[in-house]
Amino acid sequence: MRLTDCHNFHDFRRLAQRRLPGPIFNYIDGAADDEATYRRNTAAFEDVDLLPRVLRGTNEVDLSVTVLGQKLALPFYLSPTALQRLFHHQGERAVAAAASRFDTMFGVSSLGTTSLEDVRKFAGPQVYQFYFHKDRGLNRAMMDRAKAAGVNVMMLTVDSITGGNRERDKRTGFSIPFRLTLAGMAQFALKPRWAINYALHEKFALPQLDGHVNMGGGVLSIGKYFTDMLEPSLNWDDLAEMIKDWGGPLCLKGVVHPEDARRAADLGCAGVILSNHGGRQLDGSRATFDGLAEVVDAAGDRLDVMLDSGVQRGTHIVKALSLGAKAVGIGRAYLFPLAAAGQPGVERAITLLRDEVIRDMRLMGAAKIADLTRENIRFRRSA
Ligand SMILES: Cc1cc2nc3c(=O)[nH]c(=O)nc-3n(C[C@H](O)[C@H](O)[C@H](O)COP(=O)(O)O)c2cc1C
Repeated sequence: MRLTDCHNFHDFRRLAQRRLPGPIFNYIDGAADDEATYRRNTAAFEDVDLLPRVLRGTNEVDLSVTVLGQKLALPFYLSPTALQRLFHHQGERAVAAAASRFDTMFGVSSLGTTSLEDVRKFAGPQVYQFYFHKDRGLNRAMMDRAKAAGVNVMMLTVDSITGGNRERDKRTGFSIPFRLTLAGMAQFALKPRWAINYALHEKFALPQLDGHVNMGGGVLSIGKYFTDMLEPSLNWDDLAEMIKDWGGPLCLKGVVHPEDARRAADLGCAGVILSNHGGRQLDGSRATFDGLAEVVDAAGDRLDVMLDSGVQRGTHIVKALSLGAKAVGIGRAYLFPLAAAGQPGVERAITLLRDEVIRDMRLMGAAKIADLTRENIRFRRSA
């Protein structure tokens, strides 16, 4: 199987699975507890039907949107994700280069494996995904660094004040540095090409947390990072202070309740991302597409509402935009392509998704994103 054999999310996932050691594939693919939210995230899109309008053909389809003050050529962006150089040695550089080529937004993670300054070298709108640490000095230093690097938007993740229960990682022993179970080790031995690439390229690092995480000493499991280093008492007062300190556009990632979206608007947030972290945190949390209309109705006139979690298809994006999302984030839908083939993989995934959205919009009779409205869709349950 080659990159040219990949035509959709499932193909990229399959190719990534062939190339990655099992523990790394399962870190990307897995979610919390019984993974019920993970499954529902994508299934939710199927409870809504599209109602295309005919005889409204158009020569050009304009996919551009403006979100958080940033003009994007596409209505979807690449959500911030951790540890990308583990998935492919090009890591964040490949993802940032692809996003820049397509003029869409990319977010570098607090747990990124490439420095925020290196990623800023690529043109285009960028966000910095911020985890709020117990160590307030570290938080201030991270914000100062982001300001100095000219980051456009601060994205504070609020659904991770403790680690999700990712049982697949427990089974394989996924942690950094690797401290694998015997079964996990056996799976690494099966993928020597990955291991050679990993060994031959830049040493693993978490440059956003330089000097604050001791990579030489103990083991940093992702769950342990959340539990030991992040502020478990994070609250609205902390947010208000952070908005003041940052001084630029700030959005909250991981909002599910409409009341929280309203409160974020009251405090002056530029946007909220309706997200359940791809089902990786609270299993049983509402699928984001199921809750989108309520959140848009609660605060969509005062801030930009975006959505991520479960998006795999152009029609998913069209449905979310029709319900009122200003833009849609993808996670695994670019991570599997990254793992499968580096930058060309991410570019192929973006191209396929872009072409799907263009085709879907033509078939819907929509020439621009603003033409997509709730008139275009019907919920089956209430039909
Ligand atoms: C492997 C992986 C790592 C992630 N790392 C982060 C992170 O460091 N910070 C963050 O805010 N979200 C992180 N996320 C969540 C994504 O930003 C996004 O919310 C999620 O992937 C969307 O769901 P999807 O994968 O179904 O598209 C991560 C997701 C995955 C799959």
